[in-house]
Amino acid sequence: MPEPSATTPRQHFRQLRRELDAHTQRRHARQLARHLNQPLLRNAGRLACYLANDGEIGTQAIMQAAWSHGQAIYLPVLSPLKNSLYFAPFTPDSQLSRNRFGICEPDCSPAQWLRAQQLDVILLPLVAFDDAGNRLGMGGGFYDRTLAFLQHRQHRRKPALIGLAHEIQHSERLATESWDIPLDAIATEQRFLVF
Ligand SMILES: Nc1ncnc2c1ncn2[C@@H]1O[C@H](COP(=O)(O)OP(=O)(O)O)[C@@H](O)[C@H]1O
Ligand SMILES: [Mg+2]
Repeated sequence: MPEPSATTPRQHFRQLRRELDAHTQRRHARQLARHLNQPLLRNAGRLACYLANDGEIGTQAIMQAAWSHGQAIYLPVLSPLKNSLYFAPFTPDSQLSRNRFGICEPDCSPAQWLRAQQLDVILLPLVAFDDAGNRLGMGGGFYDRTLAFLQHRQHRRKPALIGLAHEIQHSERLATESWDIPLDAIATEQRFLVF
């Protein structure tokens, strides 16, 4: 019999990041932005990012730096038809509205949305990561479905996938499934790790 109250790795790592206080969150976000100031990111003309939620490491400083370098930023939007993501242009003036999960998205016409293939770099939020670049998400599989085309590529690579996390989200080894799309790199408040 499984224990009724046993925590899953997903619950465990979500709890850890939610417990970080506001001061620590701000410090980690600042340190993270410094680790990301490098060519892989600076050379991305089109960069997808996310708005932090549920204790995810913050991205405000990263987006400010990207805008000041003239880079275009996109945020994920849920496709109303498929369980996958498109990417909507995001500027400091963008209006936001909440999707069916309560997550804010740019309020713009679907005609402006890009597909993942059109991006240079995607910065992904995650619940946990391991030493091989595997990513545990919130459990919806949205990024995996959206990025499934990368699995059949001989030579990956566009877009490059960089996971952003607090160091406490590190796990030595995560269980993976056939549909999981591994990351090219991970950035935390402490390091930049390339796979
Ligand atoms: N490429 C895909 N095609 C169809 N279903 C997928 C695909 N990728 C993921 N899924 C579905 O999404 C669900 C959640 O995926 P999972 O990897 O557990 O979540 P997450 O990546 O958010 O941690 C799985 O049940 C899986 O069936
Ligand atoms: Mg997955």
